Amino acid sequence: MRARLEEVREQALEELEKSKNISQLEDVRNKFLGRKGILAQQMKLLKTASPEEKPVIGKAANELKALLSSEFARKLEGLKRSQRGEGKRPFFDVTLPGKKRTLGKLHPITRTIQHIEEIFGELGFKCVFGPEIETEYYNFDALSMIENHPARDEQDSFYIGKGILLRTQTSPVQIRVMEKEKPPIRIIATGKCFRRDAADASHTSMFHQVEGLLVDKRVTFGDLKGVLEVFVKRMFGSEVRMRFRPDFFPFTEPSADAAISCIMCGGEGCSSCGGSGWIEILGAGMVDPEVFRKVNYDSEKYTGFAFGMGIERIAMLKYGINDIRLFLENDIRFLSQF
Ligand code: DAH
Repeated sequence: MRARLEEVREQALEELEKSKNISQLEDVRNKFLGRKGILAQQMKLLKTASPEEKPVIGKAANELKALLSSEFARKLEGLKRSQRGEGKRPFFDVTLPGKKRTLGKLHPITRTIQHIEEIFGELGFKCVFGPEIETEYYNFDALSMIENHPARDEQDSFYIGKGILLRTQTSPVQIRVMEKEKPPIRIIATGKCFRRDAADASHTSMFHQVEGLLVDKRVTFGDLKGVLEVFVKRMFGSEVRMRFRPDFFPFTEPSADAAISCIMCGGEGCSSCGGSGWIEILGAGMVDPEVFRKVNYDSEKYTGFAFGMGIERIAMLKYGINDIRLFLENDIRFLSQF
């Protein structure tokens, strides 16, 4: 009887393997494992076995039943899978184009700030930073922009408390640095500024400035011109020319505004420069002795120059952008060009 069980095992596995579809497999399964199947018949014959043989054969028959059941299940799974078409075609199509991943980029204002910091860094200027929330003292008073001073009106401010406002310029950083350090001083301070301006192509209520300050013995207006000229040529190209004109700022004396020859027309005159051939880019001057007095510097011993410019304006000229609002819109079509 044990030999017969062995035969059954071989025959069943062979027929199982040969089954080509699920219904064939079902037939084979019934033939061997069904209620009246071959294995069931063998079980019946067990009664005729000797008492010693009975448990041994019984165990072998049960083991065979378990084996065949799991083999049938495995085969059935395989047939189902191939019916679904799996296994026939390759797992994935290697010729399909992959997903495009676009690289992020630095915002044009960030790039411009980095470029400015690099140029002044090479000229020995240290980068410092001041708070965006300022007191009236640092933002106006210490810079001689006393109450009712017309320059104070021009910079319509966002007040957030009594005597506390969002800074309208980066010039207050000058005062903070001079209060802490003794000359020689050679710093630039970049950062955000805020004014209550209605937005248009050249105004936004938040923008960036860079402030520069150099204080030492025997610093002259010539030094100021020399430093700014190097900056302008490094930023816009060596063919660009500079022009200084008298201006007024309460914290510098004398004061000047500086313009560069129009980079669109080379100074011929075009719509970008309003036909003049010049584009104003910054304010500057020699630090007023009154400012030195506020920070306890001896204005008999030291002189210095300061300058301030709008970073958006520099970026617009550098990249040929005609509307300042584009910097804030976060339009990927705009940003991906830089
Ligand atoms: N803070 C001035 C402004 O926002 C710009 C400026 C002008 C800064 C002259 C200076 C300077 O340091 O000397 O209009």
